[in-house]
Amino acid sequence: MATADSLREQSQTNSSPAPRSEVDERRTAAWIGQGVLVEGRITSSQDLRIDGTVEGTIEVGNHVLIAHMVDIHDNNSHSLDWRDRREDALNVFERGRALETAKMPAAQVVIEDDVWIGAKSTIMKGVRIGRGAVVAAASVVTKAVPPFTLVAGNPARTLRELTP
Ligand SMILES: CC(C)(COP(=O)(O)OP(=O)(O)OC[C@H]1O[C@@H](n2cnc3c(N)ncnc32)[C@H](O)[C@@H]1OP(=O)(O)O)[C@@H](O)C(=O)NCCC(=O)NCCS
Repeated sequence: MATADSLREQSQTNSSPAPRSEVDERRTAAWIGQGVLVEGRITSSQDLRIDGTVEGTIEVGNHVLIAHMVDIHDNNSHSLDWRDRREDALNVFERGRALETAKMPAAQVVIEDDVWIGAKSTIMKGVRIGRGAVVAAASVVTKAVPPFTLVAGNPARTLRELTP
């Protein structure tokens, strides 16, 4: 994971604007689905998974730090109905088809600039994480996080406000 200092140094020495979509690939083994918009530069460790659908979409802002083993979903992954889940498993693992996401509940996820998401956290559908917020390690974020707020736990609750 890049340190705050190295990121600062990088942005100061970088006179040309960052490409619109860029993930720091030096330490990233990322699976990024469709419907994901990365606004600027994000830095992540290993095993990031961003599971976006066209129906929901996920937006990640600039200078966002995402630790290892973070999952970000804009949908429920599977139906609550066992018949649909059985069909999903057959389609994906036996028929070699793509997972059918169109029928799943989906809602946009927005991660604003300068957010830090701690290791092994999960961000669920419909969540907006406000600018400068911090998600403590192993949190499950199910509701909006106001800017400059530290949240933790499952479901994530506010621990305290941070300095803007
Ligand atoms: C949130 C964090 C930054 C610590 O912040 P802090 O200001 O030093 O917080 P403290 O350790 O003083 O803990 C404050 C309270 O939050 C709780 N807390 C801290 N981290 C927590 C977590 N991940 N989940 C639940 N509660 C947590 C503490 O138990 C404490 O509770 P209390 O007030 O009831 O005693 C740190 O715990 C964390 O999660 N860091 C992420 C590390 C990581 O993911 N690294 C990967 C590489 S980026």
